[in-house]
Amino acid sequence: MDKAMAQRQPDDQYAVRFEDIRKIYRMGGNEVRALDGVTAAFERGGFWAIMGPSGSGKSTMLNLLGCLDRPTSGKYFLNGQDISTLNDDDLSDIRLKYLGFIFQSFNLIPQLTVEENIALPLYYLGWPTAARLKRARELGELVGLSERLGHRPSELSGGQQQRVAIARALSNDPVFLLADEPTGNLDSRNSIEIIELLRSLNRDGKTIIMVTHEPDIAAHAQSRLVMRDGRIHDIVTDARLSGSSDYVTGGIKGKGSLAPQGQATQEG
Ligand SMILES: Nc1ncnc2c1ncn2[C@@H]1O[C@H](COP(=O)(O)OP(=O)(O)O)[C@@H](O)[C@H]1O
Ligand SMILES: [Mg+2]
Repeated sequence: MDKAMAQRQPDDQYAVRFEDIRKIYRMGGNEVRALDGVTAAFERGGFWAIMGPSGSGKSTMLNLLGCLDRPTSGKYFLNGQDISTLNDDDLSDIRLKYLGFIFQSFNLIPQLTVEENIALPLYYLGWPTAARLKRARELGELVGLSERLGHRPSELSGGQQQRVAIARALSNDPVFLLADEPTGNLDSRNSIEIIELLRSLNRDGKTIIMVTHEPDIAAHAQSRLVMRDGRIHDIVTDARLSGSSDYVTGGIKGKGSLAPQGQATQEG
């Protein structure tokens, strides 16, 4: 598995691809279709916002994208590799090596310094101390926290804490950044700063998938994928931001405006 993942398939233009993903919860005699046949392809270098009303399947989508859960059926391709049937150990390995998480509540370790927080995933990946602290300093600089590397999270503003979390999420150079309401705990000024940071990372090539219910925040993404009743209801791509209209393709009945999945690939 690991070797195949390491050999990134250059012909695969998608960071992530969902093929008819279903997540069904059975409670007593009832069935809840949290995801009810989602087909979506997230191209490398894209920036998406996943939106939708409460109960529409956003969290379920996030859990599957983040390899925190497995689908009931359907296929999940990460870097072109089908990972839908991996066991829990393999999935946690995938998360550590290939994904970067950003949470609403930052989830920093209070006892560790900024530098140590950023370097933590690299510790679990087995990097030697000097190498991981060097990388942590570089990432600290990238997110504008060079002067704060020795501070603890409690000594930082919310916006600064989220910068630390973003640097930490970047430490393993992930296939994509997965952000769960990244500005949900921030005031409007800090929210703008964080979304601008995400945009600049995206301009530098980082693929970002963000769940948010705030339209102002979602407006900064190139594509907004709207969930409803466990399905993709709509995908709106901002041509002005992306320069391309084929960032995501989804199986949406009765929507003529979206290219079918094969077509986007051919146009590549
Ligand atoms: N663990 C679970 N067990 C049973 N039903 C669940 C579970 N998680 C989510 N659901 C149901 O799946 C649907 C989608 O939920 P969710 O993905 O949390 O939506 P959202 O994040 O958009 O509010 C909802 O009807 C929810 O009640
Ligand atoms: Mg939710």
